[in-house]
Amino acid sequence: MTPLDFLLTRRSFPILTAPAPSNDQINTLMQAALRAPDHGNLKPFRFLVCEGEKLTQLGELYARGMQQSGETDSVKLERAKGLPLRAPMVLIAVARIQNNPKIPAQEQLLTAGLATFQLINAAQAMGFGSYWRTGDIAYNPAIWQLLGLTDGEQVIGYVYVGTIKGEPKDTGAAPTPDSIWRYV
Ligand SMILES: Cc1cc2nc3c(=O)[nH]c(=O)nc-3n(C[C@H](O)[C@H](O)[C@H](O)COP(=O)(O)O)c2cc1C
Repeated sequence: MTPLDFLLTRRSFPILTAPAPSNDQINTLMQAALRAPDHGNLKPFRFLVCEGEKLTQLGELYARGMQQSGETDSVKLERAKGLPLRAPMVLIAVARIQNNPKIPAQEQLLTAGLATFQLINAAQAMGFGSYWRTGDIAYNPAIWQLLGLTDGEQVIGYVYVGTIKGEPKDTGAAPTPDSIWRYV
């Protein structure tokens, strides 16, 4: 497959199983993340790796954070506990926004997103599948605190990674580019 074919056929895979990337492979994913365009070379991101027992703990942490922010619905809390168990590895993508006179927060946030996407593409290039998810658990400050995030840090995604099982997410017919470009 050519690099262009690779880009044109990238997909998200909702069903992921073991094995997850090894330590060496995680290192390669991080190298890819560090190749993201980065104004000022601030590296405004980091990733928390969860696998094995940590996935169960992550689910419990979600439920605890939700309770701290007022959630009392036991069905929602139980569901949250199971969310990380949908893959053998979850990479928590964290943006680290610094005060910088030249590089606005928006650019740093974009770089963190690009780094996450670099990682996603690298995982697919290595034969793994992934799925970027967010939802309320990504934007809950109580969960950020339990995860140990500090000032200026925020979760931008939970990237599920593993060995592909089944088909990519069905997103319907291939999109046509006509509506998103024109000469000006
Ligand atoms: C910032 C961000 C957050 C996302 N959050 C979710 C999510 O919570 N749940 C979900 O099903 N898809 C989410 N997606 C979309 C999926 O990752 C995926 O791109 C989408 O299902 C389309 O599939 P495809 O990547 O194969 O085209 C998110 C994507 C981005 C960039």
